[in-house]
Amino acid sequence: MNNLVIIYFNLNYYLIITLKILKKEQKYIISPEINSLNRFSPKLKIAILASGEGSNFQVLIDLAKKEKFDIDIKLLICNKKNAGCVRRAIEEKISYFICEESSCKNSDDFEQKIIDKLIDNDIELIVMAGWMKIVSEKFINSINRKIINIHPSILPSFKGKNPVKDALENGSFITGCSVHYVVPEVDSGELIIQGAITINKSESIENVTKNIHKIEHLILPFAISEAGFKIRR
Ligand code: GRF
Repeated sequence: MNNLVIIYFNLNYYLIITLKILKKEQKYIISPEINSLNRFSPKLKIAILASGEGSNFQVLIDLAKKEKFDIDIKLLICNKKNAGCVRRAIEEKISYFICEESSCKNSDDFEQKIIDKLIDNDIELIVMAGWMKIVSEKFINSINRKIINIHPSILPSFKGKNPVKDALENGSFITGCSVHYVVPEVDSGELIIQGAITINKSESIENVTKNIHKIEHLILPFAISEAGFKIRR
């Protein structure tokens, strides 16, 4: 009897410890839960629109290189010549097109140059991965291709330019990232996938941004896979 009581308490102890470890490790939630990437034959032709460091772009490059994802990154379009994403495109020998608004006649001309490139390259899906320009309704309509965007908040909360700062200032306990189809209204459109992390007021913007990035890198390939499936079906 005594032995049974000891075993019972030991078992409970181990269960509690295991649950605590699991809880500690579960630092994020992704929904919907997608466990594999769709196959595409021929490969899905995508273009990346980016303005910054390009860490999301790099994740896609790596997956494609390792043949884990059937995507053909035909082109990077960037509006800043010194951006990290351009450096990555050069290193990885991926075609890129730099289009700076300052060297265009006006925003119409800027968008038209990008539209022409996308059409010339016969792109099936346009992926905005850190694209810091708002696109016009004309842009969306004249391409006539699906466009998706990744945004560092759980939409519809914290749309706009400073979603991480806004979430912290709001005292939110949870934030994250979303991938959605692009529609004329900024950071709106049908959601494809979201990821959530816990935050607290005392955390720095840099730390939260870094943690969100990790989740972005997990969800963006799944979002492309889902959008690609819709395009090809
Ligand atoms: C991402 O956080 C994205 O959500 C936002 O810009 C950032 C781009 O990061 N729109 P990177 O350039 O892919 O590293």
